[in-house]
Amino acid sequence: MENLDVVIPRPQTIISAPGVLKVESVGEVIAGEGLERFAAVIVRNAGIMGLDFTQGGVPVKLELSPEIKVESFELDISPAEVKISGGDMAGVFYGAGAFEQLLCAAVARGTRNAEIPCGKIVDSPRFSYRGFMLDSARHFQSVETIKSVLALMAKLRLNVFHWHLCDSQGFRTESKLFPELNTLGTMKPGFYTSEDIAEIRAFAAECFITIIPEIEMPGHSQGLLALHPELCCDPGNPGKEFCLAKPEVRTFLEKLITEFAAHFPDAKVMHLGGDEADTAHWNECPECQKLMKEKGYDDIRKLENDFMNDMAAFVRSLGITPVTWFTGSVMEQSTIIQVWRSIWELKETLKNGNRMIFSVHDQLYLDYPASAAEPFENWMLVLTESGVYNTEPFAAWEKDIGDLLLGPETCLWTETVPDHRIMAKLNPRIYAFCETAWSQAKRKEWYNYVHRKEVLSACGWFDLKAL
Ligand code: ACM
Ligand code: ZN
Repeated sequence: MENLDVVIPRPQTIISAPGVLKVESVGEVIAGEGLERFAAVIVRNAGIMGLDFTQGGVPVKLELSPEIKVESFELDISPAEVKISGGDMAGVFYGAGAFEQLLCAAVARGTRNAEIPCGKIVDSPRFSYRGFMLDSARHFQSVETIKSVLALMAKLRLNVFHWHLCDSQGFRTESKLFPELNTLGTMKPGFYTSEDIAEIRAFAAECFITIIPEIEMPGHSQGLLALHPELCCDPGNPGKEFCLAKPEVRTFLEKLITEFAAHFPDAKVMHLGGDEADTAHWNECPECQKLMKEKGYDDIRKLENDFMNDMAAFVRSLGITPVTWFTGSVMEQSTIIQVWRSIWELKETLKNGNRMIFSVHDQLYLDYPASAAEPFENWMLVLTESGVYNTEPFAAWEKDIGDLLLGPETCLWTETVPDHRIMAKLNPRIYAFCETAWSQAKRKEWYNYVHRKEVLSACGWFDLKAL
């Protein structure tokens, strides 16, 4: 192996030093307090690579260091010692992952005479928010698939799992208040029980991943409204939208949100959807029209805006920060806005000063085919791996945005993606995405990335379990 530059996502700084570490000289992993599980994974994975890290020899030391920032690490390779220092547990985990990449690349031709060049990797994430959204409402995935996705995210240092759990085609969290919702599932029936969700939450925590659960309103609710037509403008012709004016809609949704939130007791952020609601029913509904006039509005979208702000305020009253998709309306400033249709939405949101998540569809929607050879729907564009790689969330406004852009999130909608295709849709575009989310813009170079990906694929690193 020629150099230290094989790590994905590409580190901020690589400093070369003279000398090499003979891989077979490494013989133990010494973990600071609380870091034992990372040590055990290194020993296990080294074992898979044909190395015995339990026989004594050059140590690999894992430690926490108060001088290093959160999620950040330093990996120091010398002939006599490997030191992995993290600013927190996540930092140690990520540093250990980087060491395993170097190790795996070094032993690609066998362990005999394998070596890693000496030097230091100093790394820190560009964005604190590095998201992936999975739609479990259209096609439903098994708990095992969700855990595989989380394990892949952890490996790529993605730290937010936005879980799209409710849509017209399904309501996927167990509801004891409204058990009829769990009978939905047009494309595939199924729901996650409280035990399933607890298992997934615990696994995500081990992966240093925060879950943002999503429940949809006022549109994308066809299945639910077919079961509860009294919550629509016209119960004889329910459609996909809740009525904006009927008081019972709010009572129902407040109960539903409270129960939904209880599945995620440690969630600090919840997504309320808000996208793509159609105005046709509201325009014809006497109650919606009456309320609109009472409020002196000339546009039904203003009533929708009030509705979403009220629901967001309810979520806030539970101690949870709401997120909505960009809709064109103005949300109270503490609501986070996820931009998705165009970069223009980012500029619009900036005017009101809301924090943002960047998911512009033609750069980050992974349901779109990676090439025209894949099956796709007429609303999709081709989104290649290099297209994802070259996504630059800041575009031209870097100076104006400040801290308002939390980070990027790539999304996998599943209208056309059954459970067994999830990994095929993610790999390799999610590797490209992790570099957009983690690495500094000036460290991103497509051909260099392709080379590193080939080295890591050829040595089998992507097949190793990270935890
Ligand atoms: C969306 O793609 N409807 C947010
Ligand atoms: Zn109505």
